[in-house]
Amino acid sequence: MKILITGGAGYIGSHTLIELSNAGYKFVVFDNLSNSSKKSIKRVEKIIKTPIFFEEGDVRDKKALNKVFKKYKIDSVIHFAGLKSVSESVQNPLEYYDNNIVGTLKLLEVMKKNNCKKLVFSSSATVYNEVDAQNYTPLKENFPTGVTTNPYGRTKYFIEEILKDLCLSDLKFKIAILRYFNPVGAHESGTIGEDPNGIPNNLMPYISQTAVGKREFLSVFGGDYLTHDGTGVRDYIHVVDLANAHVKALNYLNSKNKQTANPLIVNIGTGVGYSVIDMIKAFEKVSGKKVPYKIVQRRLGDISTCYSDSSYAKEVLNWESKKTIDDMCADSWKWQSNNPNGYSKNK
Ligand code: NAD
Ligand code: UFG
Repeated sequence: MKILITGGAGYIGSHTLIELSNAGYKFVVFDNLSNSSKKSIKRVEKIIKTPIFFEEGDVRDKKALNKVFKKYKIDSVIHFAGLKSVSESVQNPLEYYDNNIVGTLKLLEVMKKNNCKKLVFSSSATVYNEVDAQNYTPLKENFPTGVTTNPYGRTKYFIEEILKDLCLSDLKFKIAILRYFNPVGAHESGTIGEDPNGIPNNLMPYISQTAVGKREFLSVFGGDYLTHDGTGVRDYIHVVDLANAHVKALNYLNSKNKQTANPLIVNIGTGVGYSVIDMIKAFEKVSGKKVPYKIVQRRLGDISTCYSDSSYAKEVLNWESKKTIDDMCADSWKWQSNNPNGYSKNK
């Protein structure tokens, strides 16, 4: 019996493989490599000192998925596969709806057909109503969702609703929806990490590429927010802590005998907000590198402050973050400085 890890070659997936292996779980990775490299799998194999079953394929391809379910006797799934760029989703919404929503529907159909009814799903803090995120932080799981600002966020919201309907229709489904806040950092080995294509949209890869000399300076989007230093505040979560939350979620689903008509929905964050300037300062301290920056106009669609109430994760999953802001920056730096071009030599 194995766990299917869709999108397991990607940033969060590859880190989760290590934690699953440490916890004794057996798994198969299914990924179309549209936003990742097989090198991440090779490097994870070195870390865990075990070969990994890898199947290249697209979650929208039911035939291919079905074959994998049969071949490995899949009994549970962690579903990371999906597209994740907010700006790309605004430009190309149909691609996002197809990949994320159709991909999830096909996966669920194949799961159902194979009587596989345990699922951990990668959702996002972006599902919370924007106005609430702005005014009612820390965000709790029962806060309203659905008033999202972009197609990417809507795919996550729609999928959450689909999963709720599925649980209602079939009490045997056991589903955990994890709402990630802002994943950053890398494995302490410095051999796997986040490898964005082109110019990074997210803060941490931009900071580390500036520190390594690939970017001239960081544009800080807005210096006039109502925060302690005027820059945006977010709940950054170390990717290894986040990876561990998936192990805890699986443990929870495996131990749960009681039938419920609802998925478990849990925030995965630290519960602490740091500003852009806090992150720059912490990064400079641990890396010993200067991160030149300029404060520019606010980025369209950004909010001032967003962080989690993470108490439910502790209560229900016995999970809490352990790594500090210094760990997040030090591990990002180790990955970036050891791999200035990510997984590719010629980027
Ligand atoms: P990633 O792009 O590094 O990993 C996603 C993986 O899925 C990639 O390896 C990609 O090749 C694969 N993939 C994409 N579409 C596929 C398809 N149709 N079939 C098979 N494989 C496919 O992204 P990540 O940061 O590791 O994110 C993982 C999940 O977590 C995504 O669903 C993302 O939306 C969600 N999430 C990420 C963040 C974040 O900031 N990184 C925040 C909240 C939620
Ligand atoms: N920022 C900068 N300069 C940059 C990049 C970001 O100042 O070059 C600032 C942003 O304005 C924000 C903070 O750094 O204040 C974090 O920005 P990110 O782009 O790293 O992250 P966001 O919180 O905007 O978005 C992330 C994910 C989205 C997800 C959202 C909510 O990237 O996919 O969290 O969960 F939808």
